[in-house]
Amino acid sequence: MNTLVWKVDKYVDNLENNPHVVDAANLLRENEVVALPTETVYGLGGNAENDEAVAKIFAAKGRPVDNPLIIHIADKEQLSRFVDEVPLVAKKLMDAFWPGPLTIIFKRKAGVLSELATAGLETVAVRMPDHPVALALLKKCGLPIAAPSANSSGKPSPTNAGHVIDDLNGKIAGVLDGGATGVGVESTVVDCTEPVPVILRPGGVTKEELEAVVGEVRVDAALTNEGAKPKAPGMKYRHYAPNAPLFMVSGTTAFLQSLIEEKQREGLRVGVLTTEENVGAYHADLVLVCGKRAALETVATALYETLRQFNKGNVDIIYSEIFPNTGVGYAIMNRLQKAAGNKLITE
Ligand code: TXA
Ligand code: MG
Repeated sequence: MNTLVWKVDKYVDNLENNPHVVDAANLLRENEVVALPTETVYGLGGNAENDEAVAKIFAAKGRPVDNPLIIHIADKEQLSRFVDEVPLVAKKLMDAFWPGPLTIIFKRKAGVLSELATAGLETVAVRMPDHPVALALLKKCGLPIAAPSANSSGKPSPTNAGHVIDDLNGKIAGVLDGGATGVGVESTVVDCTEPVPVILRPGGVTKEELEAVVGEVRVDAALTNEGAKPKAPGMKYRHYAPNAPLFMVSGTTAFLQSLIEEKQREGLRVGVLTTEENVGAYHADLVLVCGKRAALETVATALYETLRQFNKGNVDIIYSEIFPNTGVGYAIMNRLQKAAGNKLITE
């Protein structure tokens, strides 16, 4: 299959009638799959009400079929097609954070969405992305769109159209190239089927921001205790991994530099993931700056691009600094832990 790349300027008006958006919307209606930019990462969209379309998403990504997809909508009214009851706490969260990087889990109405998209669960994950191209496409096609991140399963999520092409060229109908995404980590997934909302995946909206709107918010036990079974099926998989083994390092820059030198003495090529503040402290084969420690949202924005760059740098081992577990740092650390398979070296 020839994968088309459609460049679309997200700042122009009337995107719904942009010829590339119209082409992509038509392909979605014909149950083809197309990649689209969102404010978090690129998604691979398909008609959520059609098994054939959803099967194409799983096939292109090589995604395990027990891992359900997030359904994307452009309009709150679309919810009533496949959700009967919107709990008050969910209403408050939707008013505060939609459109935006928050996915809400609802009880699902039977018989509307593809069972493949929801992996047979009685619940459904829904979000309204905050990106003009995504919203225009969703409005134009008028369908609820199932869209996981548009990477090959296991790879870092794509934060620009080039990443999508690197992973999925020839496997999907096209990609709407709306430039680099902003947030950089995926949406926060919150289960609102229980009286107190539970974070199943940390992401672009922080726990602190959620609490400011609805009061108490819990965190799925699997996020703090490796032995517990995650409620979001996708959270059990290793993810975001660069080709070389990645180790998180807790300690001083001098300690990290000593680890680098030890491996270099063994003849290995060593990569380091650091920040603007600390870049001067390291001498390694590939030192990559991932944002600014003083502004963690810049680290989130750059994280996946940085992890992907290590693959082009031909390194044998990667050491990464760690980040505080607060604000968006919580999502950054969750992704780094997955990329590292939880390997942590402490001074
Ligand atoms: O920012 C995002 O959320 C991006 C963009 C494209 O919207 N999408 C994304 O989708 O990250 P994906 O498929 O890579 O991750 C979806 C996560 C998985 O961990 C999945 O298991 C979980 O959401 N999930 C989906 N439906 C669920 C459900 N009914 N109950 C619990 N977890 C669910
Ligand atoms: Mg993903």
